[in-house]
Amino acid sequence: MTLAKIAKKLPSEDSLHTLPRPYFNHSVEFKERNSAEKRLEVLKEVGYNVFFFPAGMITGCDFLSDSGTTTMTNKQWAALHLGDESYGSNKGYFLLMEKIREVFGNEFFNEPALGKPNAFIFHQGRPCEDALFSMLGKTGKKLIIPSNGHFDTTEANIHANKIKPLNLFSEEFKSDDSESHFKGNMNIKKLKDLLKKSKNNIPLIYITITNNTGGGQPVSMENIKQVSSIAKDHKIPLFFDACRFAENAWFIKKFEKGYKSKSISKIVKEMFSYVDGFTISFKKDGLVNMGGGLFLRAGGLFIKNYPEIPDALMNHQIIKEGHPTYGGLSGRDIMTLVTGLGTIIQQKYLDHRIRQVRELGEKLVDFGIPMVTPFGGHAVYMDVNKFFEGTNMKPNDFGGISFTAALLGLYGHRACELGYFAFGQYDPKTKKEKHPEVNFVRFAVPRLRYERQDLESTAEAVKNLYENRELLPKVKVAYGRDLPLRHFKARFELH
Ligand SMILES: Cc1ncc(COP(=O)(O)O)c(C=O)c1O
Repeated sequence: MTLAKIAKKLPSEDSLHTLPRPYFNHSVEFKERNSAEKRLEVLKEVGYNVFFFPAGMITGCDFLSDSGTTTMTNKQWAALHLGDESYGSNKGYFLLMEKIREVFGNEFFNEPALGKPNAFIFHQGRPCEDALFSMLGKTGKKLIIPSNGHFDTTEANIHANKIKPLNLFSEEFKSDDSESHFKGNMNIKKLKDLLKKSKNNIPLIYITITNNTGGGQPVSMENIKQVSSIAKDHKIPLFFDACRFAENAWFIKKFEKGYKSKSISKIVKEMFSYVDGFTISFKKDGLVNMGGGLFLRAGGLFIKNYPEIPDALMNHQIIKEGHPTYGGLSGRDIMTLVTGLGTIIQQKYLDHRIRQVRELGEKLVDFGIPMVTPFGGHAVYMDVNKFFEGTNMKPNDFGGISFTAALLGLYGHRACELGYFAFGQYDPKTKKEKHPEVNFVRFAVPRLRYERQDLESTAEAVKNLYENRELLPKVKVAYGRDLPLRHFKARFELH
């Protein structure tokens, strides 16, 4: 029999349970070896705040964030050498303009010579948020910005400008219905109710794709369309927090009716056709270690409603970051971004990326660990309340912090508490904690960094902690309980 005929009888290469990665290692870094004893000593010194634990001592996986932790491709490293460090209008700026138009739509980057700025490069996501919300805050009105789930810095930047952030999580997100593939959706009913009461106080509606705070869950095209149509009816601009736009597009292609045969690139274009602007941290789906941007649709509702803002934004950018043609980035950063944006929307990259995250989640579920399902695109989330169910760990004992300290100290893997401590608030007057709706530990998977055995080793470590969860110590906050964004700064004691 010819091999071609045999090929028809045998399982295809794509149907194998273990698929080869769509890349190979180009260069590697060996890790330090150290012991649990040494790590525990250092953890104690840094007050069990894992953000302050030296990354060089991590022997396992660093899941603290998928932001800026990308391994770049050899094409990106090559592009770095082509960086043009001219102060004005470096070569990469024009390539970035072409790339942004190609990926998101022509309307998001005007010709610089037109004198109608609508594309603003910043050094990461939060300065874009600061720029946008500080402009809106100047209106002096009592404003509310609703979202399907604001990220913590987004929420802080909104607050800082005396605007109220509001999260309208979907009903599916709060239920245990693991069949829903789009738990990141905005709650349409709550949005309509809000608009009935406060439509004149809403300068824009924000959709975070994927919904990082809401378990890293994607948002459906249907939901984007619905929100867009409601926003249009009320003449309110719609924005994306677009950090993980490519991962979101992958989920639409995979699970939403009518998108199976569409390319990721087409789906991305359609998603962005519904918005009047977006902020983005390129440290996620830009496949780079630094970069961000704020883009406004030429002729869109935002520019119509706030015609003075684009010029004000440009002034803000010049004062705070740099000339608009490089923003907060060096010419070489811009070159790696142009190349990264080309890779991020490739099907083979995304298939592997999302499969890897899912495999980590599945392994944890196999071990009986309570995880949020279905798994999101960049991270898997452990439900802390369910993890400690039946033990003496009370909400104010911050079990999530205890878990992350134990995982890092005992097994060398770093994860991040995003729950009662990170998103909670302490009122020193009443001495009471206000708990948020969610209590998670997040394992954010850096892009192109780890192999399956790294992830399996993490799952095994979590299993050991789960089986001994009643032994995990309670947490006392030694410093920073009442500070804003306290999880970045606090110190703990374990009892
Ligand atoms: C959804 C979302 N928005 C905004 C940001 C802020 O971006 P940056 O860290 O680049 O400031 C992040 C960062 O993780 C994020 O996940």
